[in-house]
Amino acid sequence: MNDLGSSLRLVPDADGLAEAARLLSAGRTVAFPTETVYGLGADASDPVAVARIYAAKERPSFNPLIAHLAETAAAKAQGVFDDAASRLAGAFWPGPLTLVVPAGPACTVCDLARAGLASVALRVPGNAIARDLLARVGRPVAAPSANRSGRVSPTCAAHVLADLDGRIDAVLDGGTAPVGVESTVVACLGGPPRLLRPGGVTRAELERVLGYALAGVEAENAAAPIGPGLLASHYAPRARVRLDATTAVFAEAVLRFGGVPEATEAPAVFDLSPTGNLAEAAANLFSALRLLDASGAETIAVAPIPRGGLGEAINDRLRRAAAPR
Ligand code: TXA
Ligand code: MG
Repeated sequence: MNDLGSSLRLVPDADGLAEAARLLSAGRTVAFPTETVYGLGADASDPVAVARIYAAKERPSFNPLIAHLAETAAAKAQGVFDDAASRLAGAFWPGPLTLVVPAGPACTVCDLARAGLASVALRVPGNAIARDLLARVGRPVAAPSANRSGRVSPTCAAHVLADLDGRIDAVLDGGTAPVGVESTVVACLGGPPRLLRPGGVTRAELERVLGYALAGVEAENAAAPIGPGLLASHYAPRARVRLDATTAVFAEAVLRFGGVPEATEAPAVFDLSPTGNLAEAAANLFSALRLLDASGAETIAVAPIPRGGLGEAINDRLRRAAAPR
């Protein structure tokens, strides 16, 4: 929302990074690349800046946001880390993991960014551009995915501008986000850690570091939906989504995996990974949904996706895309 009515597009060279950091430090909104998806950043310590995120996204309610930091030490200074949280941070930061921990006495993430909770969600992203930007800002940066509320998350700058051009101050264009699904969210709030959202770090990777099994996400959310925004319709394209399609019906757009389902007459087809590779499928997921949606088809038929590894996060996002709205 600058004078021109369109958002600045910055390249991630020294000048672009300096300008992005200057805007964030001045309380403005800047979308930036992470290894998972693009985030819509604002100074997490400034409630006026954080309010601009909710306004730009048209979020119906104040969901708690993830605070991003350049270094593990800086993230640890914001919260109280028990043994499990310390081990997970040590193993996966920088990287696609968010830890929800009790806010520490020195926490500078404002109440609005935390939605009034006593906990704080922290993440040290794994890509160099995000970390360079965060280091320049020197404060936690709140950043939900940089899409309009309810839409699929953006994995490139063009997706960000399709949803938010003119509603945010700038986007830092760092190319395509390689992971493609959001970070895994784990709560370490006393007792065993709880997996709140599957994501870029797989359950098996978490369990290997912890040395024990985590409860399932569905059980978790049914028992205690402590992650607002983790339930119901979310990540939704405009078209209806039909899951586990082994055959395509006439006029349906088709999201394939490993060549399934066959679709000779479909108006639009995208294969998430012709070779059946889940990492490739995750990286392609959100841009594929955007592309198929743009075909104008009323329904997108989606192939069955294996549930292991990154398949847990992919299936989670597809279930939300298919949820009644
Ligand atoms: O990969 C990602 O995590 C991206 C990039 C930009 O970092 N960010 C992202 O943010 O996906 P967002 O706002 O779309 O999702 C944050 C999730 C929400 O589901 C929210 O409910 C949960 O984290 N969360 C945040 N703070 C929480 C808290 N204190 N307790 C429980 N859940 C929390
Ligand atoms: Mg989101």
